[in-house]
Amino acid sequence: MSEQLTIALTKGRILKETLPMLARAGIEPLEDLSSSRKLLFQTSREDVRLVILRGTDVPTYVRHGAAQVGVVGKDILMEQGAEGLYEPLDLGIAECRLMTAAKVGWIHEGSRVRVATKFVNIARDYFSRQGMQVDLIKLYGAMELAPIMDLADVIVDIVDTGNTLRANGMEPLEEIARISSRLVVNKASLRSRHEQITAVVDALAAVVQGN
Ligand code: PRP
Repeated sequence: MSEQLTIALTKGRILKETLPMLARAGIEPLEDLSSSRKLLFQTSREDVRLVILRGTDVPTYVRHGAAQVGVVGKDILMEQGAEGLYEPLDLGIAECRLMTAAKVGWIHEGSRVRVATKFVNIARDYFSRQGMQVDLIKLYGAMELAPIMDLADVIVDIVDTGNTLRANGMEPLEEIARISSRLVVNKASLRSRHEQITAVVDALAAVVQGN
């Protein structure tokens, strides 16, 4: 058997959409992920194992070569940068939009805008391209609360159905980027284990084509 290939997956909604694609590519975990507290899983393919991570940690594992392949949202790649990573495939899953949003009826009145987000790098770039000086406030979740609590005027967050914004009296303003999950590959591993990695990328590309 060749050395095991480790694929780092993003837990949560992305994982739910990734597993059927992997199954169609012939890679299935040997046990039920949802009923296990384990984080590392062997698969139906002896040469492939899966590790389940927070999305923000997937690029780190792949960049350092602890995993050779990963599945992660484009939002995280945009925020962290893609140094050391190839991004060979848009998996077309977990599609959503990265947007600015504010309380319904909020009007920018010239004073410095306070922006709460976990995507501070994306927000900094975006507002500087708009020629706007903003005060960035880093949060780790529940961004929708920030305008309600008068912590911020605007948020930068993922919008899917828009339900979370609506439920909190907010509305989307500008689209910053369209987001979906991407396959990422460690650049050095792609050279040293080209055949093994290319086979996985090609199998997943065929699944995407078939969708
Ligand atoms: C995202 C985002 C919003 C919500 C938007 O959170 O931060 O809260 O989804 O979806 P909607 O437009 O369909 O309401 P997610 O559930 O991914 O969790 P997170 O806060 O951990 O990113």
